[in-house]
Parts: sequence; C-alpha cells; structure tokens
Amino acid sequence: MKVLITGVAGFIGSNLLDYLIEHTDWQITGIDNLSTGSEVNIAGQKNNKRFTFIKQNCTDVKSLKEYDKVFHLAALPRIQPSFEFINEHITANLVNGIHLIELMVKENHYPRFIYSGSSAIYGTPQTIPTAEDEPVSCLSPYAFQKYEIEKYLELIATRYPLDYVTLRYFNPYGPRSFNPANKFNAYSSVVGIFLDRKKNGQELLITGDGQQKRDFIHVSDLAKANYLASVHKEKLNTAFNIGNGSTLSILDLAKLISDKYSFIPKREGEADITFANISKARTILKWEPGYKIEEYIKSIAE
Ligand SMILES: NC(=O)c1ccc[n+]([C@@H]2O[C@H](COP(=O)([O-])OP(=O)(O)OC[C@H]3O[C@@H](n4cnc5c(N)ncnc54)[C@H](O)[C@@H]3O)[C@@H](O)[C@H]2O)c1
Repeated sequence: MKVLITGVAGFIGSNLLDYLIEHTDWQITGIDNLSTGSEVNIAGQKNNKRFTFIKQNCTDVKSLKEYDKVFHLAALPRIQPSFEFINEHITANLVNGIHLIELMVKENHYPRFIYSGSSAIYGTPQTIPTAEDEPVSCLSPYAFQKYEIEKYLELIATRYPLDYVTLRYFNPYGPRSFNPANKFNAYSSVVGIFLDRKKNGQELLITGDGQQKRDFIHVSDLAKANYLASVHKEKLNTAFNIGNGSTLSILDLAKLISDKYSFIPKREGEADITFANISKARTILKWEPGYKIEEYIKSIAE
C-alpha cells in the first residue's frame, strides 16, 4: 500500500504521519512546501524506511498513479489572514486541491482521496449540535475555499468515478499545534497559543468576552478518523463531522491553563459556537473520539 500525505510537515499532517507509521505497514510519501510547516515536525520519522519526504508544492505533483490513497491536508488554514492575503489563500486552499482532483481525472486513476475539510463552513450554525446537513454559511474566505473543494469533489464525482471522503474538523489541539516560525502563528489554534503564552510567563489574551464556545478535538483522534476513512470498504463520497461532540468556552479553557488572562476585541469572521454532531462518523466510520481536552491540559501542566 502506497499513500501520499500533502502538508505532511504541518500540525495535523505530521501527527497523521506518526499515526500511520504506528498503525499500518504502508509506504508513505509526504510532500510539503514548508511555507508554514517545519521539517522539525517530521524529524522523528526522517530515518524511517517507510517514509519519504519531498519538499514540493502540491501543484508540482506530476502523477498520483503510484498511490492507493491520498490524504490532502496542505493548506493555509487561518481565518484572519485569509481576508488579507487573498490570492495566496486561494492558491493554497483551492488551486492545490483542484490540481490533485484534475490529475486523478487525467490519469483515470482514483485513489481513495481523504480531504481535510473544516467546520468553518457552518459559520455560526443554526442547529446545535451541528450535523452534516447544516446549511453552509461561510464567514471567511478560508471557510469558502475549504467548501469549494468539497463542492468540486461532489461535482466532479457526478462525471468521473472519484472515491473521496471529506472530514470536517472542528477545533484541533495537540502536539505541534503551535509553530513559532509560522508567519501566521498569531492565528493558530487557541489551545496552542494559550499553552505557549503560559510557558513564556505571559498572560492569555481572550478575544471578545470569552463566551464563544469550541468543540476541541485531539489531533490523534483526527488521525484515526483519516485512517478509518481511508480503509472503509465502500466508496463513501460524503462528508463527516470530526469533533469531540462537546464544547468548552474560551474563558473556561483559559481558566484551565492559567489564572492570568485579559480580554482583547472580538474578531470578525469567527463563529460564536462550534459543536459537532458526530453520529454519522460514529455509525459509518465506527470512529469514536478518545481524548478529553481537560486531561490533555492537565498532562501538559504536569
Ligand atoms: N488546525 C485547524 O484548526 C484546522 C481546523 C479545520 C481544518 N483544518 C484543515 O486541516 C489541514 C491541516 O491543517 P494544519 O492545522 O495541520 O495546518 P498547518 O499550517 O500546520 O499545515 C499545513 C501544511 O501545508 C503546507 N502547505 C501549504 N501550502 C502548500 C502547498 N502549496 N504545497 C505543499 N504544502 C503546502 C504548509 O507548509 C504546512 O506544513 C488543512 O487542510 C486545514 O484546512 C485545520
């Protein structure tokens, strides 16, 4: 079994790599242009004979013929910069994915394509917890670009035998979520930022009143969902919510980490609440989240 991970040197890609090395005997090629990722994230697998790293743009991939599965994670996944650096985000979040989809069509070769989608496409949802049939309501260019790839997969699959799964991640946390060298690190996942500020003796900065709630999901649970989606016997061609199925307010998160915090203005384009209904992933993928954020934070503190 040969598989490709795009964005392998990023937060989720590098954790997926570790997971697949541990739980499979697959040969894994990982590509990353290192625009925001870091080789440090994959240093642990550098000498592993089952892993090959190529520093490459997704759009420079010439063929997917050798792969049985493709995990497409490469992106610029930050909401706020997507308002400012619009073209750069269109390239990273849309053009890369389209290139890979077109390659599959051109080569008439359809590996299982596992696409890292985002719960950002729901905006501030009308239904809590939110199921996959919630209306799409993008509040940012980033959310819109993530949705576009979902829609392209759906549309191209009406003509060609694509074999894809979209995983709509809620709010990931875990090792390597904060990369100090990432030019957009000020907008990283809040758990990573808070832990980094605590480590540096700084107070935590809470946007708005901190009552906004997030469904935090551990990166190993995301990796497991990717794996299960990739080995599912049937062609799925659908999207799954991948969250914990619970919420925590940002203020309560801050209190778990530190007693030194203050408030900064609310940012536009961010949802008031994310809370996943994960019944579909439970039923079809037989996936179950295994981690709790409170325990993760306690383990870091210890
Ligand atoms: N972290 C989150 O909060 C979150 C939430 C929902 C969905 N997602 C999705 O999960 C995926 C992974 O996110 P992450 O948090 O690991 O982000 P990340 O920024 O840590 O990793 C993305 C990686 O993609 C690489 N990359 C960017 N453009 C590339 C290109 N043109 N060619 C090759 N590599 C390229 C970057 O260098 C980086 O290593 C993304 O698709 C993202 O949209 C992330």
